[in-house]
Amino acid sequence: MVNSFYITTPIYYVNDAPHIGHAYTTCAADVLSRWHRMRGEDVWFLTGTDEHGTKVERAAQSNNVKPQEWCDKLVNDSWLPVLATINASNDDFIRTTDQRHKLGVQAFWQKLKDNGHVIQGKYEGPYCVGCEEFKLLGDLIPGTGEQQGKDCCPVHSKPVEILQENNYFFQLSKFQQSLIEHYQKNPDRIQPESAYNEVMSFLNQGLQDISMSRSSVSWGIEVPWDKDQVIYVWFDALLNYATAINYAGFADGSQKETFERFWPAVHLVGKDILRFHAVYWPAMLLAAGLPLPRTVYAHGWLLVGGEKMSKSKLTGIAPSQIVDYFGSDAFRYYFLRAISFGQDGSFSWEDISARYTSELANGLGNLASRLTAMLEKYCETKVPKPGKYLSADQKIIDLVRENSLNADQAIDSYEIATAITYTKEIVDAVNLYVTEQAPWVLAKEPSNKERLDTVLYVIAESLRAIAVLHHPVMPKSTSLLWQMLGADQLGSINDQRINTAGVWGQLPVGAITVKKDALFPRLAEDA
Ligand code: MSP
Repeated sequence: MVNSFYITTPIYYVNDAPHIGHAYTTCAADVLSRWHRMRGEDVWFLTGTDEHGTKVERAAQSNNVKPQEWCDKLVNDSWLPVLATINASNDDFIRTTDQRHKLGVQAFWQKLKDNGHVIQGKYEGPYCVGCEEFKLLGDLIPGTGEQQGKDCCPVHSKPVEILQENNYFFQLSKFQQSLIEHYQKNPDRIQPESAYNEVMSFLNQGLQDISMSRSSVSWGIEVPWDKDQVIYVWFDALLNYATAINYAGFADGSQKETFERFWPAVHLVGKDILRFHAVYWPAMLLAAGLPLPRTVYAHGWLLVGGEKMSKSKLTGIAPSQIVDYFGSDAFRYYFLRAISFGQDGSFSWEDISARYTSELANGLGNLASRLTAMLEKYCETKVPKPGKYLSADQKIIDLVRENSLNADQAIDSYEIATAITYTKEIVDAVNLYVTEQAPWVLAKEPSNKERLDTVLYVIAESLRAIAVLHHPVMPKSTSLLWQMLGADQLGSINDQRINTAGVWGQLPVGAITVKKDALFPRLAEDA
């Protein structure tokens, strides 16, 4: 049976347009989706938008439009287009205003109430609209400057609001012990290790029941048994992961296949929303009798001046600002290679330009154009037949095999930057090999023809493996490289198996190679 792989991004708030922090999570999920598809797995990649709650409602109000109108505009003008900008291959896009989502959310909470996990209560305490989160007093920081004397949210540096409401509560406290036991038995369900430790220490402090509805908010999904309350935005949003794969059909038994085919999911999230995904969400699933997520992976933040990049702090950069200049492949490569997944990182124009020039234009791009130029000159544009391999060739063959396997393994532990580095090591080694073997010198002597053919085959076949391994990261340029190598004979690059990319000798002898424009054109300022 084919393994399924269901991967999700957080659903993004539509209070504003996307910045590169949002695009970062989507790119990471896209690379993992493409990688798993190239292992032949049954992949489902979900992303979408979180449209209810106070934050979005207030954004609409301050723009003098109805919340639904505001959401439609932002989704269509900003959030959907950014997926094309970064070349995301998502299989679905869920909006929390979709009817399928509303039905699933109501079915879910009705079930939790029927199962005896919802009680009535009064909430009194601080709330951060930026986080849409009920806060504990101990979480807050003292305000500075204009906010002097006020308790502020540590993420948004803005004063919290004090709420007093009669709500329904989800009995989160009941699930503390089961969650601790589950994570002790399955430590790989929360990654990286720092995230696991954070969640365990939170769980060990004890869990309090948490408000699951709001009476003073109107922009949301009605509580099915009380039309004066809407479901708290996080307890509406988290359910997108289930409603998108037809939880409603699963719950009423009318169509169980989709949910059963894909659940449980791998959730990629920013570390700021780890607790929601690794504590509240699994507790909700336990309460509903459903399997817990396969993995919650908390990645780091893109920082500006040492702080999390955010629109509210006016530090957001739109993905198109970078993609228009460098292209989507370089954007994807840069963010996933330069920042170790799971850690914070800073973006700088100098860094992306430097890596673009050295690693992509001079590294991979140059290798590809040198090869096709030499094949045109010395081999009538055909992939030559290799002769006997010498030790320098064997070294490359071994490196291709080992680094491919290592890259594939790194993906299993979500080490995307490491996987990319293994492939880059092959590029660097082959570039060095070209310099050392100097095919243009061999070409001067007709008696060296067999050696020349062998060297050129080693370069071409290495590039075949590189194209496959880099394809999830840089789908456009590797598709072009695939054509340059005449590798279409092996079928589409999407259909190649990434876990056997390093098996030597796949590129057919005699394949017709093609010269193309540079894979990564030189940047205007370098010209
Ligand atoms: N709507 C909630 C998530 C609900 S999921 C059931 C939310 N939305 S958000 O738009 O504020 O942010 C969502 C995600 O965007 C973060 O978890 C993270 O994955 C990504 N990022 C937003 N800013 C980021 C950075 N500065 N750096 C890296 N990722 C960032 O929270």
